[in-house]
Amino acid sequence: MPASPVRFGLIGCGEIAMHSVKALQGLSESCAIAAVQDVVEGLAKDTGERLGVPAVTQVDALLARNDVDAVVLSTPHFLHAPLAIQAAKAGKHVACEKPIACTLAQADEMIAACHAAGVKLSINYISRYSGMVRKAKELVEAGAIGKILRYQVHVAADKPESYWSGGYTGRAKSDWRQSKEKSGGGVLVMNLSHNLDFVLWLTGLVPERVYAEAATHLTPVEVEDNISAVVHFRGGAIGSIDAMSCARGKESFGDRLYGSEGQLVLASPLRVYTAREGVPGLTKGQWTDVDVGKGLYGTDERGAYFADFAKAIREDTTPLISGEEARKALALCVAIYQSAETHEPVKVDHR
Ligand SMILES: NC(=O)c1ccc[n+]([C@@H]2O[C@H](COP(=O)([O-])OP(=O)(O)OC[C@H]3O[C@@H](n4cnc5c(N)ncnc54)[C@H](O)[C@@H]3O)[C@@H](O)[C@H]2O)c1
Repeated sequence: MPASPVRFGLIGCGEIAMHSVKALQGLSESCAIAAVQDVVEGLAKDTGERLGVPAVTQVDALLARNDVDAVVLSTPHFLHAPLAIQAAKAGKHVACEKPIACTLAQADEMIAACHAAGVKLSINYISRYSGMVRKAKELVEAGAIGKILRYQVHVAADKPESYWSGGYTGRAKSDWRQSKEKSGGGVLVMNLSHNLDFVLWLTGLVPERVYAEAATHLTPVEVEDNISAVVHFRGGAIGSIDAMSCARGKESFGDRLYGSEGQLVLASPLRVYTAREGVPGLTKGQWTDVDVGKGLYGTDERGAYFADFAKAIREDTTPLISGEEARKALALCVAIYQSAETHEPVKVDHR
């Protein structure tokens, strides 16, 4: 007999929640949506009607439901901690959008509240489920590029003016993306934290110290639209992190790892150079394009994320992207922002 699906209640029915709805609908054996909530009545109703489930505007009303086992938190960043803590106290497992929170103090409170309530907490850094990241992790662990000496990432977005008050679809009107207090920051924490999360995970690199500069050049908002950081990792590797959200013409190059015995370009296909003999699928002294496949569970990254979270609930195991795991990317972002403000090197706060 298959176990009954984990029943989710959605908190926040804005832009990204619609992607989660689609992902959860594709997982009918392991996941179901029991009810939805948004403070904007029209968004809650629209989502409830599409799904044929109850829609409410009060969080309490959603959390009081016995047919909700877990919540999907898809709200602005400053609400992640208070809502996760409220959900945990109501005995609900929490799947929260990235980043974990705006500050490390909030993240620590969320983690503690979920542990105290005995519920699972997981943060939606879905890239960890991509074929690209999985394959890169396999190659790094197989020693294909040797000891990692350098991590380099360059992300260049060109966010339209409308993004700052309604995201890419305009589904929910808001000001939170513009506000340092409500979002925690701009392109670094909003977008690049995905890259930081998966690179720290796949390499095991531990950032110790950063120096950064940030600016808001072309966007009429509080948060940065241009940021650069140099990172010192435990063991001596160096990181170079660059992100813009006002790069006219875009053209990112993404993530690269340089090792003592090779290089890895995180793209699809992956590009790998190895100086080593005997790495399966690679030829010594050559660049190889490595197919990254379709990912896990025969579904997309978001689907794989929810399938894995439901499995962790059913089997009472720690989710892959636990609160503690997601805190690592936030700790790095927070140190980078602090350095950009003080113009001093800053130590990364590992709990
Ligand atoms: N994992 C990803 O790849 C990815 C991509 C985009 C966004 N996100 C994340 O998803 C989250 C939401 O982003 P979005 O783009 O959907 O934003 P959005 O503004 O489109 O949606 C947020 C929703 O939260 C609702 N809301 C506000 N206060 C609330 C409350 N107290 N209770 C319930 N609902 C409330 C708003 O009415 C709105 O509908 C953010 O953490 C963002 O970083 C993740």
